[in-house]
Amino acid sequence: MARAATSFTCFFLISSLLFPALFFSISEADNSAAPIVNGLSWSFYKSSCPKVESIIRSQLKKVFKKDIGQAAGLLRLHFHDCFVQSGGPDYDVPLGRRDGLTFATRNVTLQNLPPPTANASVILASLATKNLDATDVVALSGGHSIGISHCTSFTNRLYPTQDPVMDKTFANNLKGVCPTANSTNTTVLDIRSPDKFDNKYYVNLMNRQGLFTSDQDLYTDSRTKSIVTSFAINETLFFEKFALSMIKMGQLSVLTGKNGEIRANCSVRNPDNKSYLAMKVDDEVEEDRAELR
Ligand SMILES: *[C@@H]1O[C@H](CO)[C@@H](O)[C@H](O)[C@H]1NC(C)=O
Ligand SMILES: *[C@@H]1O[C@H](CO)[C@@H](O)[C@H](O)[C@H]1NC(C)=O
Ligand SMILES: *[C@@H]1O[C@H](CO)[C@@H](O)[C@H](O)[C@H]1NC(C)=O
Ligand SMILES: *[C@@H]1O[C@H](CO)[C@@H](O)[C@H](O)[C@H]1NC(C)=O
Ligand SMILES: *[C@@H]1O[C@H](CO)[C@@H](O)[C@H](O)[C@H]1NC(C)=O
Ligand SMILES: *[C@@H]1O[C@H](CO)[C@@H](O)[C@H](O)[C@H]1NC(C)=O
Ligand SMILES: *[C@@H]1O[C@H](CO)[C@@H](O)[C@H](O)[C@H]1NC(C)=O
Repeated sequence: MARAATSFTCFFLISSLLFPALFFSISEADNSAAPIVNGLSWSFYKSSCPKVESIIRSQLKKVFKKDIGQAAGLLRLHFHDCFVQSGGPDYDVPLGRRDGLTFATRNVTLQNLPPPTANASVILASLATKNLDATDVVALSGGHSIGISHCTSFTNRLYPTQDPVMDKTFANNLKGVCPTANSTNTTVLDIRSPDKFDNKYYVNLMNRQGLFTSDQDLYTDSRTKSIVTSFAINETLFFEKFALSMIKMGQLSVLTGKNGEIRANCSVRNPDNKSYLAMKVDDEVEEDRAELR
């Protein structure tokens, strides 16, 4: 039982923690620059699950190989969860975080996340309330290096009038994908390298090919423009800042120690029933392994 519980803990708690490390590697030295909150540590699973990183890395590699969309999904989950309550991931990261006792409602999520139609002023003000600065805003926006979007998130820039900032050819192609403002089609967020986590997103912005207002305005606003340029010309710098900002974001109202819980099923709270939890842990470790294969 203890063994099952341990591998369960490793699996669920960390499955959300390490995925970005798949795209690039960050040295311990780089990460150590990030301050970590009480209760988290870099070596939380050192004795209970020393191979946790390689286990998760190899599983997620398989998952992403089958469906790269899962990578964008995980990244998105991190943003939603962290801005709204706690939960979520990191890298080589501070470990030991626990699951919350409440779930974010759709409404609260929408109130906490600035919409894709927001300009840089709105985004900067919104993230400043979480102690995230202009560099964090630009670095975290680099999450749009992978993933897709529905037309309705950007057709405000096409209809009724075309956003003059948007590259004309890019706009015409988007109109083909989204013939009406309410089209249910989707398109990629990063036209240069849609499935690769890299710095091309910033190159897009410099070429006025950012998809959302919230993307493109980062290259219009004087507070963020030079940061965009610096990431476009130096991918190492982007990766470094992205990791630091993710670690910062990942510790927003984090639960540690005896707070929160370790969920037997990630999508539901544990029943207030200890024998139930012990029972479910055994089953689910196997089920989820099967799912990930
Ligand atoms: C969520 O927000 C919408 C629109 O603002 C509102 O109509 C709805 O009642 C809200 N739902 C809940 C459960 O608060
Ligand atoms: C940004 O958007 C807000 C809200 O829509 C608006 O009040 C503000 O004038 C805009 N700022 C700029 C610089 O466009
Ligand atoms: C988008 O949707 C329209 C129908 O609304 C369809 O005719 C069109 O082919 C679609 N375009 C793409 C690129 O999927
Ligand atoms: C979508 O928008 C077009 C106008 O852009 C309108 O004619 C059409 O009825 C809308 N369709 C739906 C399903 O709302
Ligand atoms: C790119 O950024 C890295 C990380 O900050 C830095 O070490 C390196 O010197 C930069 N490269 C250039 C060409 O400026
Ligand atoms: C976890 O909970 C969700 C929501 O109640 C349920 O749909 C799902 O089947 C559960 N998964 C397992 C493995 O029990
Ligand atoms: C605890 O959960 C188990 C399994 O669902 C159930 O059989 C048992 O009745 C529950 N006990 C209490 C006190 O709720």
